[in-house]
Amino acid sequence: MPILNPTRRKAIFYGFLPLIALYLLYNFKLRHLIPAITTWPTQRRIVADLSDIARHRIMPWSVEHESDEFWEDEGEHVEDSVATRLPFSRHIVAVGDLHGDLPNARKVLTFAGVLNERGDWSGDVDFFVQTGDIIDRGDDTIPLFFLMERLRAQAAEVGGTVLSHLGNHEWMNAIGDWRYVYPSELKTFGTIAARQRMLTTGRIGRAWAQNYTTASRLPLHPSLGPPNTPYPPQHMSINFQKEESSTEFEYHPSSSDRMSHAALSFVHGGLSPTYGNLSPFPTKINELSDSLLAKLQQRPQPPPHPPHPYPGLPHGTTPEEAHLYDANGPLWYRGWATEPDEVVCAQVNEVLAKTGTRRMIMGHTPDFHNIKSRCNGKIIIIDTGISHAYGGVLSALSIHYTLRPIGDDASNRWIEREVVSALYHDRRDVIVTDEREVVGEFDHDYS
Ligand SMILES: *[C@@H]1O[C@H](CO)[C@@H](O)[C@H](O)[C@H]1NC(C)=O
Repeated sequence: MPILNPTRRKAIFYGFLPLIALYLLYNFKLRHLIPAITTWPTQRRIVADLSDIARHRIMPWSVEHESDEFWEDEGEHVEDSVATRLPFSRHIVAVGDLHGDLPNARKVLTFAGVLNERGDWSGDVDFFVQTGDIIDRGDDTIPLFFLMERLRAQAAEVGGTVLSHLGNHEWMNAIGDWRYVYPSELKTFGTIAARQRMLTTGRIGRAWAQNYTTASRLPLHPSLGPPNTPYPPQHMSINFQKEESSTEFEYHPSSSDRMSHAALSFVHGGLSPTYGNLSPFPTKINELSDSLLAKLQQRPQPPPHPPHPYPGLPHGTTPEEAHLYDANGPLWYRGWATEPDEVVCAQVNEVLAKTGTRRMIMGHTPDFHNIKSRCNGKIIIIDTGISHAYGGVLSALSIHYTLRPIGDDASNRWIEREVVSALYHDRRDVIVTDEREVVGEFDHDYS
């Protein structure tokens, strides 16, 4: 490079300033660029473009001294890059009825990737969901509930989440209906009174009250809020933020509506189409669940049935709380498993629309061979009789959700993909693969 006199150097310096300003303006106009400015491809792009222009327009004499190949290569990468919008993925694993079998539960959680080889939270899944009925029919009640709390704490440390549900058997035990309590299981608590204490004011009872719900709604994408964000949303605007004063953004209600149902519901029995408290979901169900559980745990514990008479629900139970526990309520309903396809597939869309979900996932009604998918994966029944009490198959449900940008950033187009599979100890069956295009701004950092 020739040696420049001070005047020329000054001229070059001032020549650069408007260019830098132009580049900044150009870039700042693009959404999302500011965080991405620190990412490697964007930095390279700016450096490449600035240098290129500087070398060709301001310092043409410098071009002939070096090869241009490096910069030309970079220029080609720039054309088709979508560097400023990042892809998103979320992995969910759900497991059904465990019924007192710790070894089988461990096996399932290990092949599903929830546990590592040391039996701790692996960090490989984002959400682990259990749909209730951990208690009864086996002896491992205590270690199973303790395992769930240990996993919940370990998961939270690395940004994972455990979602736990009360099944009809947890409720039966809270009521004093102990028909399925094995004598050997009772021994692990010591006495009847010790078991009653543990399930009310003790570690297990407190965990039920604090960390278990009867239903949940799990959004697939964080822009829809954290788990159990009520549907319909209280503030629609938090979900689809329209950038202020942007003329480029086009609101696509159809795509956004589809995104608004990008969620799953979990419940032990099933969400009956005629159950009265589906909305707002899952808030209404869980409020009733909390208040009924508190009444059960606070009453003087009735002597267990059998041999004593069935104690029933406590005095002061409201009609709505009673419906929560009846045959058409979310803990006992079996219609999604037992009714024929014509019936369930005609009913399912209405329930999905009401609960703001795409699929409903439940346990309770075992199929001893397979996880059962109905109506193209809108209904998924995951109880396969995992406990040795049933001798069914070991299984888990796995859902991989991804959202990946396509086209240029201004178009806001994404490909949304859900791969739902049934995992068994020796194989993986894909139940459904759904792919669709959605348009919108989806902030992955929302939490
Ligand atoms: C509920 O979960 C939280 C988070 O892991 C934990 O700190 C708390 O002890 C749990 N509650 C009970 C009663 O186990």
